[in-house]
Amino acid sequence: MRIREAHASDAQGIRSVHLAAFGDEGPAVADLALALSADESAKPILVLLAESEKGVVGSIIFSSVHIPGSASGPSYILAPLAVAPEMQRMGVGRQLVESGLTILRARGAELVFVLGDPRYYARFGFSTGHKVSAPYDLPYPEAWMCLSLGKVVPQEVKGQLACAESLNRPEHW
Ligand SMILES: CC(C)(COP(=O)(O)OP(=O)(O)OC[C@H]1O[C@@H](n2cnc3c(N)ncnc32)[C@H](O)[C@@H]1OP(=O)(O)O)[C@@H](O)C(=O)NCCC(=O)NCCS
Repeated sequence: MRIREAHASDAQGIRSVHLAAFGDEGPAVADLALALSADESAKPILVLLAESEKGVVGSIIFSSVHIPGSASGPSYILAPLAVAPEMQRMGVGRQLVESGLTILRARGAELVFVLGDPRYYARFGFSTGHKVSAPYDLPYPEAWMCLSLGKVVPQEVKGQLACAESLNRPEHW
């Protein structure tokens, strides 16, 4: 298995892995992944795929965000992340997250946000120790986490996150 950046020709693979991973929510999350990949307001964006001899078995997207009025530096949100069911719990998700964070750090990213299960994302260093509010009210605030990759201290950044247009819909939050 290898991790690589996605190309325009990977759209079908990206759709398939989200349909497989997310069950009933699959069509909506697959639409989001493809919309984000093509969204000018999401750039710079990082789309990574995990690929085996069977094709795309995992996908992760980091799209640009900013916090108006703050000096937070280049920042991203991780969403969505999907691993094909038959490949789950084998470290594919971990490789996608860690590869993405390594690439973003090298590109000068400061903060990375995620809305997800704290039990999963805490292992990469994401935490709720920040003061940036999400674009919408969240039913589970403990799932709204941030990781610093640079010098910016998350606790010192205040404001409301602004994300790409395709992600800026209440159903995604
Ligand atoms: C969540 C997901 C991306 C994890 O990818 P993965 O390749 O299976 O995960 P890894 O192999 O890197 O890590 C497995 C570990 O994560 C844990 N884990 C997997 N999914 C989890 C979840 N939703 N919440 C908490 N922990 C989870 C497993 O228990 C396992 O823990 P262990 O290492 O202590 O045994 C994958 O299971 C998936 O695509 N799920 C369906 C889609 C989804 O929910 N995506 C949103 C992620 S917030």
